[in-house]
Amino acid sequence: MTTPKEIGTEDIEALRDRVAGHLARSRARSTALTDAVDDDDLVKQHSKLMSPLVWDFAHIANQEELWLVRDVGGREPVRQDIDEMYDAFQHPRADRPALPLLSPTETRSYVREVRDKVMDVLASTRLEGRRLVEDAFAFGMIVQHEQQHNETMLATHQLRAGDPVLHAPAPPDPAGPVLNREILVPGGPFTMGTSVEPWALDNERPAHQVHVDAFVIDKYPVTNAMYAEFIAAGGYDQQQWWSDTGWAYRQKANLARPRFWIRDGDRWLRNGFGVVEPIVPDEPVVHVCFYEAEAFAAWAGKRLPTEAEWEKAARWDPATGRSRRYPWGDDDPTPERANLGQRHLRPARIGAYPAGESPLGVAQLIGDVWEWTSSDFLAYPGFVPFPYREYSEVFFGPDYKMLRGGAFGVDQAACRGTFRNWDYPIRRQIFSGLRLARDPRPDEVR
Ligand code: AVJ
Ligand code: FE
Repeated sequence: MTTPKEIGTEDIEALRDRVAGHLARSRARSTALTDAVDDDDLVKQHSKLMSPLVWDFAHIANQEELWLVRDVGGREPVRQDIDEMYDAFQHPRADRPALPLLSPTETRSYVREVRDKVMDVLASTRLEGRRLVEDAFAFGMIVQHEQQHNETMLATHQLRAGDPVLHAPAPPDPAGPVLNREILVPGGPFTMGTSVEPWALDNERPAHQVHVDAFVIDKYPVTNAMYAEFIAAGGYDQQQWWSDTGWAYRQKANLARPRFWIRDGDRWLRNGFGVVEPIVPDEPVVHVCFYEAEAFAAWAGKRLPTEAEWEKAARWDPATGRSRRYPWGDDDPTPERANLGQRHLRPARIGAYPAGESPLGVAQLIGDVWEWTSSDFLAYPGFVPFPYREYSEVFFGPDYKMLRGGAFGVDQAACRGTFRNWDYPIRRQIFSGLRLARDPRPDEVR
């Protein structure tokens, strides 16, 4: 177990071992996702929204080279000539297949060469004296970067046509019948963000007090069954549930169902990584965009939570008033607490993770599906870009909506109560779902 306070006292060799474990786990994922398909498939663009898988893999290694080999390690560049090609800001995803990319074989040897040097840097660098290396932050940032791209690569796999190539056991089932219910979160201040979590990224910092009025939040995310009711009731054809921009996009893109849903007579099927099967009614809905989430919530007579509400529901401990790392406390995620890390290739049915509940009983906040919130991507008061403006700062503003809680596709290293994800409101190839909130009625608050 590692809590923020204990990290400072963690033996430096134990820290190096822990970093090595994270690096190895990330690389095992990247390797599995790229080894799953043949070379043609690796260099191909499966969707204009995504990069070829081979671009992600080399980009992962290039970022690792920039930060850990060159900056932290002070070593000679491995391949300076390719920096520009793997700079996400130089080339939008749609243009990446046309670049003279490293071949799959060249990519694999580049990736290996960088990692060998990084293991050497890890063994020999004094992890102190510079903010970039304290608590091995730069290594943690690079682990999170690889894991974020692993989730993106998983989304590419979901868009890929053809026979299934990824396999994983089914997530756990709930122990018995489960009913969704609403939970009142009392009004008052709570601590949002963090100043102590060692690997928290710049946009999660600093910790600050936020007053949140009392609100009501669902115990579980919205399920496929609930979402199918919205469709059956004509929700996609009734403008009154949609915002103006949401309706305009619904018209333009002809939205009528979540991405990957298929109509089959009077039932719904969905394609998950090449497997077509009936939707599971009590599984959280996934692959909806912000506008669909917003419209669903309005139709249900509710709304999306704000980002602050989501984080208070996930972290605030009513017994102590303290904000914790996760809904269940300060201890790291385990397979009993949350569906993370591509251990399963789908969200789990509601009720499957009682060990992951918050003190107030809110469940499955971490893992399963990213949850859309109503908030824009804004800096916290006191924000300082670190270590580079292009991680967060250049994205601040009204163009992006915040997603919280992580999904089955993301590793625990890149998911915690404070972790902030963002995307355009039209995006639905990501593993995005929603949870409902509302203002309390006067009789519910005293
Ligand atoms: C935080 C998921 C929005 O994938 O665009 C990857 C993470 N930043 N490489 C993204 C990221 C640089 C980022 N998200
Ligand atoms: Fe990246």
